[in-house]
Amino acid sequence: MARESGNKRMTESGLPVEPVYGPDSLRDWDPDRQLGEPGAYPFTRGVYPTMYTGRPWTMRQYAGFGTATESNARYQQLIANGTMGLSVAFDLPTQMGHDSDAPIASGEVGKVGVAIDSIEDMRILFDGIPLGEVSTSMTINAPAALLLLLYQLVAEEQGVPAEKLTGTIQNDVLKEYIARGTYIFPPKPSLRLIADIFKYCKAEIPRWNTISISGYHMAEAGASPAQEIAFTLADGIEYVRTAVAAGMDVDDFAPRLSFFFVARTTILEEVAKFRAARRIWARVMKEEFGAENPKSLMLRFHTQTAGVQLTAQQPEVNLVRVAVQGLGAVLGGTQSLHTNSFDEAIALPTDKSARLALRTQQVLAYETDVTYTVDPFAGSYVVESLTDEVEAAAVALMGRVEELGGAVNAIEHGFQKGEIERSAYRVAQETDSGERIVVGVNRFQLDEEEPYEPLRVDPAIEAQQAERLAKLRAGRDQQAVDTALAELRAAAEGTENVLYPMKKALKAKATVGEVCNTLRDIWGAYVPTDAF
Ligand code: 3HC
Repeated sequence: MARESGNKRMTESGLPVEPVYGPDSLRDWDPDRQLGEPGAYPFTRGVYPTMYTGRPWTMRQYAGFGTATESNARYQQLIANGTMGLSVAFDLPTQMGHDSDAPIASGEVGKVGVAIDSIEDMRILFDGIPLGEVSTSMTINAPAALLLLLYQLVAEEQGVPAEKLTGTIQNDVLKEYIARGTYIFPPKPSLRLIADIFKYCKAEIPRWNTISISGYHMAEAGASPAQEIAFTLADGIEYVRTAVAAGMDVDDFAPRLSFFFVARTTILEEVAKFRAARRIWARVMKEEFGAENPKSLMLRFHTQTAGVQLTAQQPEVNLVRVAVQGLGAVLGGTQSLHTNSFDEAIALPTDKSARLALRTQQVLAYETDVTYTVDPFAGSYVVESLTDEVEAAAVALMGRVEELGGAVNAIEHGFQKGEIERSAYRVAQETDSGERIVVGVNRFQLDEEEPYEPLRVDPAIEAQQAERLAKLRAGRDQQAVDTALAELRAAAEGTENVLYPMKKALKAKATVGEVCNTLRDIWGAYVPTDAF
């Protein structure tokens, strides 16, 4: 239950909700300007004219743990269960550009995702999966270039040309500085590397989505819906400015930008949030950047149901929360969806809980009527009103970021982090006071929780990975590795696109850690400013 002000409920963004909406609520609403047609500017109703009436959203379950062998088995299972796209979770050492045998990696190898140290691990990860026939998302940020190149190298070995590859790298380091923490380099070299990736994909892997500009993690850290889309779109503007400053034409890269948002249980505001985000982005790309290709104006996004709203208490109740959240994402026009497993507040999903999460999407897609028609809330007194109000709140916040000099400068002022932490603190206070009901946690509790046996990752995998790394280093052409890393160093010190020497190094079996350490030597490591 959201908080109240007087006799009115307030939304998660702090907007008053009228007990009753009617024609007067939309007396200033201009459907030609604010609604438009599905698949047309300003895309309020969705990015495609037909949306789900022809094809449902992509059911894309985030998965990965342990070794590449274990994760490959999970992917094969998800494909067998009907998932439509892959989504790779990497362990923290991989996300931070460290090898599994680096001292700093101890205790984290294979824990929150799969351990990938080299081309050998990547080959195993996609063994038996035809990379010309699947689209694969990879949640990787600072070392995103490396994992993209390893994916391309494995596809080459499968005989799949790069122009056939489809998928996404998250590659959104700005939100890592704000909310998620898996950054490596300072902002300037990070943005240079992202521009290099845009240029490389335009030239080599044209169907690849080069970035997934994410609000999800900021929402998980406490951001309200208006903050989530405001700070995400402000990051997006920073990336567009970076690519334009690097000499790219906006229509050369903008069609392959993508986004990633959360779906909370408060679905009316969430539907309004998604519709407002599409409208803001379309206008920014058209008016600020002069984009002309309609695909440059389309905010295509993935959604994940809200992990932070899962409870460890009575975990089965999360099945209901995830179903409601998934419904909100679909009513809001998502292109791709991950539904959380009910046990994720406790541990990694079991095979059964992962299957139930996917089945939830299949019920939404094949048993309900939400795919029969496009943007069913269009014209709704409450949703159109909330769409306008969430949009206004987000645009005001984007203006404050702009006043600070854009997303990077605002990050260095601690602005986004401070705003999010204040929102998080308020939600915590409301939950502690009982004003915000969380079923099973502060209302409707059980006297005694029932036991639940979670999935556990075998700690022995750390030694296994270290042993495999030792064999890889002993068996490779060290001269070829050294030469390639030297060329990478030279490119990083200069202005040449670093992805070309990087690909050569990875093909010669340089490890993720060796490549990232080479770049750390040149670019340094980011040290956060705790301005809040
Ligand atoms: N009409 C016409 N064409 C349609 C259509 C319709 N109704 N529906 C789909 N299509 C076409 C599209 O145009 C596209 O063709 P194209 O590639 O030639 O343009 C194709 O069918 C696939 O459709 P989409 O691109 O809409 O769907 P995808 O699933 O392929 O892509 C995306 C969706 C959002 C653009 C993409 O970026 C994506 O898949 N993102 C996923 C990101 C992700 O999974 N992230 C996980 C993060 S987990 C995390 O961060 C960690 C933890 O902390 C949470």
